[in-house]
Amino acid sequence: DLGTKLFRQTLLLLAGNRAAAAAAQRYGLKLGAGRFVAGLTLSEALTEMAELNRKRIAVTADHLGEGVRESAEASAYAEAYMQLLDGIHDRGLDAGVSLKPTQMGLALDPEAAYAHIRDIVRHAGEHRLFVCIDMENSPFTDATLAIVRKLHTEGLTGVGTVLQAYLRRSMDDCRRLTQERVVLRLVKGAYQEAPSIAYPHKREVDEQFKQLIRHRLDSGVFTAIATHDAAIIDWTCAYAARKGIQRSAYEFQMLYGVASTLQERLAQEGYGVRCYVPYGQSWYPYFVRRLAERPANVWFILKNW
Ligand code: FDA
Repeated sequence: DLGTKLFRQTLLLLAGNRAAAAAAQRYGLKLGAGRFVAGLTLSEALTEMAELNRKRIAVTADHLGEGVRESAEASAYAEAYMQLLDGIHDRGLDAGVSLKPTQMGLALDPEAAYAHIRDIVRHAGEHRLFVCIDMENSPFTDATLAIVRKLHTEGLTGVGTVLQAYLRRSMDDCRRLTQERVVLRLVKGAYQEAPSIAYPHKREVDEQFKQLIRHRLDSGVFTAIATHDAAIIDWTCAYAARKGIQRSAYEFQMLYGVASTLQERLAQEGYGVRCYVPYGQSWYPYFVRRLAERPANVWFILKNW
């Protein structure tokens, strides 16, 4: 309804507010963000990751950060990813990594951002680990897809990206990327976008989400279906069973701290499940987007504060 929509839009505006981020981050994870963030340090995150692996849940780890405004900041984030990759490798974890293009400086210096991402993907390749480039808001869609394509043409194929079902363009992107055999994560989409480019209604987003899933599962190119929507997960399992699609061709991905029981149940039933595990100091925008997805979370956090 209108109230929820306005509340959501306000939260998404707050997610992008630097002053609010600086104020919130002073409180560490005490604001309730600890439900969605695995820790402030790499070692805390690695411990959580091992715990998930014990439950047969794989991980994609995210060193939080986005929208950097200085090149030194981007270099520091790139270095943090090198340490993350080494940490995963040293402990033999079943994990890959996810990163954000604006965290590597895409909005600041696209060439330098590309060089950082290429270094990370190369280092991941040395450890046989996979990198997913998260999809941010629409000003970065074309540039993000171009980065992934360029890496593939350079022979760095251990990297994929994300398509958002709310964007009207996503079916076209999906067809092209599937032909190019790029591994994709499919999501509904977490940012505020104009109705001219994004479906405003949940029904339409869910419909395109299913079309994207169908296209990918039919193609056989590995696909992550990243959602907590039980109806879409059930629909996917039924579709795959009906079409005889191998479980090794897809996996479900969910966020750390969300629908944990469902994650464990699917893993026990033998489906591939991967949990997105974010950690680090810059947790504020990530946390506020999680609140916007489910305004009831705000009350949950206020109650437990
Ligand atoms: P939907 O919003 O319809 O929610 C379905 C049900 O799930 C809800 O009824 C509720 O029970 C539960 N739920 C959903 N969100 C919750 C929350 N925050 N807290 C508690 N319960 C919740 N987006 C993007 O734009 N770019 C990206 O790169 C990514 N990457 C990504 C990776 C992974 C692994 C996941 C799971 C999600 C993303 N997303 C993303 C976020 C995605 O676009 C979307 O905003 C969220 O997944 C929420 O939408 P659902 O698909 O869960 O459906």
